[in-house]
Amino acid sequence: MSLKESYQSFFKIGAAIPAGVFENHSVLEHILTEYNSITCENDMKPENLLDAQKNQMEPEKYDKCPAVTFDRIINYMDFAQNNGLGVRGHTLIWHNQTPRWFFAEGYSIKENAPLANRETILARMENYIRVVLEYIQQRWPGVIYAWDVVNEAVDNGGLRESLWTQTVGEDFFLHAFRFARKYADSRVSLFYNDYSTFIPWKREAICKHILSPLLKEKLIDGMGMQSHFDMDTDLNEYKDGLFCFGALPLQIQITELDIHNADSSEASMKLLAEKYEKLFQLLLKTIKEKKADITGVTFWGIHDDMSWLTGFRGEKSYPLLFDGQLQPKMAYNSVLQAVHTELHSL
Ligand code: GLA
Repeated sequence: MSLKESYQSFFKIGAAIPAGVFENHSVLEHILTEYNSITCENDMKPENLLDAQKNQMEPEKYDKCPAVTFDRIINYMDFAQNNGLGVRGHTLIWHNQTPRWFFAEGYSIKENAPLANRETILARMENYIRVVLEYIQQRWPGVIYAWDVVNEAVDNGGLRESLWTQTVGEDFFLHAFRFARKYADSRVSLFYNDYSTFIPWKREAICKHILSPLLKEKLIDGMGMQSHFDMDTDLNEYKDGLFCFGALPLQIQITELDIHNADSSEASMKLLAEKYEKLFQLLLKTIKEKKADITGVTFWGIHDDMSWLTGFRGEKSYPLLFDGQLQPKMAYNSVLQAVHTELHSL
């Protein structure tokens, strides 16, 4: 049984995929076998949905309502719709991979161009969210089941300083969720997503600065724990994080799972497999004990040769369940083993 079949009664199993897969039939077959959810690795981020040319050619026309283009997501959305996969929308509002000109007066690309005022940026934010949600919901109804409305807004114990806080202010994330709630189909769950969410100071900052104000206004449905691990990640600390977010009236999704490991020796890949097995045992135990409502686990990539970690870490990484030839690694079997043991104990 594949990953998605084995975990069917627990949560969705997803993978982040790049556009290149649409030219590779065997990778597409592989995705359909193993996963029931996909995330666009980069193509649904603001830098790829905003239409730079139109906004810059006619800045007055688009000043309050930025022009958007959907060309880069068509393959993903058609593929998901035609094959019954769900899509995690990733991501609407982020300090990263959003061009500076989006925040500038007249969409100027000059390096030091003055930033537009709060009212203009709020209008741009609302219309960006509205157009993206409405277009996608109309053309591919029901395909996106969750949106990362805001990504990575916390840093150093408080709200991260960014062009969003500089232009709108510290309430920018509240506005983002209000707009998302206003325009999202009622079946779509709205998520806050971040990395290192299980580190105690960060977990507390996220709860205090982001989740509690959002919960007060009933604007949020889920917490996204990215979960970019390495071999030293402390699973006890992770468990505390999971339980802490799980105690809130929120779904939990593991949105970007990988475990950096630069040593491809058999012994090291065995340790990787053990780490994955322990993690999935923990996720299953958490569900069984009703400590968190885990509704999805997404891997950040499909196979080791496609992982972003090799570039990011500056060394070849072997962090996933499949090798560069798409052959299952020991880690794949151990993730399956975790659920089979659980199913037999029920
Ligand atoms: C963050 C983002 C993702 C992706 C990864 C690294 O976690 O949320 O979209 O960019 O970094 O690839």
